[in-house]
Amino acid sequence: MQMDQTRLDSLLGQVVNDLAAGYAGVMVSIGDKLGLYRAMAGAGPITSAELAKRTRCAERYVREWLNAQAAGGYVTYHPTSGTYELTAEQAFVLADEASPAHFTPAWQVVASMWSDEDKAIEAFRTGKGVAWGDHDHRLHCGVAAFYRNAYRGSLVPQWIPALDGVVEALERGIEVADVGCGHGHSTILMAEAFPDSRFVGFDVHAESIEAARQNAAKAGVAGRVRFEVAKADAYPGNEFGLICFFDCLHDMGRPAAAVEHAAKALAPGGTVLLVEPFAEDRIEKNLNPVGRLYYSASTTMCVAHAISERGTHALGAQAGEARLAEIFAAAGFSHFRRALQTPFNLVLEARL
Ligand SMILES: C[S@@+](CC[C@H](N)C(=O)[O-])C[C@H]1O[C@@H](n2cnc3c(N)ncnc32)[C@H](O)[C@@H]1O
Repeated sequence: MQMDQTRLDSLLGQVVNDLAAGYAGVMVSIGDKLGLYRAMAGAGPITSAELAKRTRCAERYVREWLNAQAAGGYVTYHPTSGTYELTAEQAFVLADEASPAHFTPAWQVVASMWSDEDKAIEAFRTGKGVAWGDHDHRLHCGVAAFYRNAYRGSLVPQWIPALDGVVEALERGIEVADVGCGHGHSTILMAEAFPDSRFVGFDVHAESIEAARQNAAKAGVAGRVRFEVAKADAYPGNEFGLICFFDCLHDMGRPAAAVEHAAKALAPGGTVLLVEPFAEDRIEKNLNPVGRLYYSASTTMCVAHAISERGTHALGAQAGEARLAEIFAAAGFSHFRRALQTPFNLVLEARL
């Protein structure tokens, strides 16, 4: 076969860039854990010696790390003064833990994927699943921290108001179920915003439920928020005015049973809020960086967990709206619409 030099150069350029990003991910994690980015935020141009002093780290390591950061555009280097600076934009993404664009925790997910590579290889060979709870713990903490920031910026100010009448219902006071709640950040944010409603988070992963309880206590909402270990198709209660699925329905081996259960657990006139990774319905429309990220995570986590539940589906993180709509229609939901979308999420609303 004849090779096209232009296509080869372009592929090699991308591969080198990706490889550098893989190395750089470890640098991001180190910078985050040692507080290097935070020490640079708002500090203006500083030397490696100054940064080392502020963070109580060894200067030689800090200098090499800074050069790696500058080479990737994560830090700005000033050659005349030999100083390094974190601009406002770089600080927003790398240093500000409350920013909706704080991407550093996402590298913990990558770390867990490397750590669990042997499990993934075994799963490819045997066709067996890998349950969410069987992964390196950095997966659970990384996902929780990464999504928490997106939820902080969007859930209460944008996503809930995009649903018909749900803000009013939450203000009046309703029961809310957060199914597959993980570390409970979505549940807690809603509880903080709507003190007259009562919230319960369910998840099969006992360690996540424990973390969620601790997070609720820290946030001071433990009186209005409960967390219970329960499967999405078997939790108690049948008077929920709102049932939420945040980035978890596609992980389930029995998503249809989970949606049928939600149909029975809803109060009359209640709403299902379904937040799923952004995806188009056709593979060729998802062949972009967001699709690449989600298909990769889906291979070792979402599909693997769904298979571990030995159910009916393994939807994967790029399930797309049409497949999700079919599941809701089959469970008797007459209303299903896209309330809004972001580059990373589909926010869907369903009613019986
Ligand atoms: C990607 S995490 C999302 C967690 C959380 N909703 C968030 O947005 O941070 C998926 C969660 O779904 C939970 N899960 C998977 N299958 C489940 C099932 N059948 N019933 C209840 N929870 C389930 C997992 O334990 C995990 O916590």
